[in-house]
Amino acid sequence: MLSQGSLWKVMDQNKKKLNVAAAAMDHIHNDCILGMGTGSTVNFLIDLIPDIKNKISAVASSSLETEKRLKSHGFTVSSLRELGNLDLYIDGADEATDNLNLIKGGGGALTREKILAAASSKFICIIDDTKLVPFLGKFPLPIEVIPMARSFVSREMIKLKGQPVWRENFLTDNGNDIIDVHNLKITDPLELEATINQITGVVSVGIFAKRSADILLIANNDGIEAINS
Ligand code: 5RP
Repeated sequence: MLSQGSLWKVMDQNKKKLNVAAAAMDHIHNDCILGMGTGSTVNFLIDLIPDIKNKISAVASSSLETEKRLKSHGFTVSSLRELGNLDLYIDGADEATDNLNLIKGGGGALTREKILAAASSKFICIIDDTKLVPFLGKFPLPIEVIPMARSFVSREMIKLKGQPVWRENFLTDNGNDIIDVHNLKITDPLELEATINQITGVVSVGIFAKRSADILLIANNDGIEAINS
């Protein structure tokens, strides 16, 4: 059971997640073709958008979990193939820096999230202030890998001075494995993203630097702070 202190922390963080999700609603314009991310912060947003359903002309999802939640609110979920480019993609993150680089994939949806972010004219990332960091890497870096390449990619990550841990009993929506890499010093996110993406067997890495966020909305005790690219 959670201690009283931990319970307050979770409640405080959930309040911030709800506030930042509400702030993101202002960015959803009329006739918006929307991409929706994955995770508990985005879940708050999904529960709010039925109020502005008339503004959303179509919505694409980054995961089966998000798709299910959207459908439970009466949305029809379209595939990216049908929609072409998206106007706006909104998603959470596990870590973010003030220059809008991100670590994502705590929920294992990083590859589809990356695809939707890449296909969107605008990417808004919504976080609470516990996730704002000076440097990426304290949060273990998720990498989606083809299952047969798991050990090979893990050995390659050890060469890069990381400590890979296989996310056991978990398969991505694409049927692949996740390796979480601990203790990486990510001084150049763009370079490390490219390096890891080039390792054979890697489907995608959870660094979002090549396609970073355009706007970072951060919920803190005083309200919402916005950082633009
Ligand atoms: C899922 C993600 C999420 O955006 C990330 O894990 C943040 O989740 P939450 O809003 O629950 O803290 O990348 O793959």
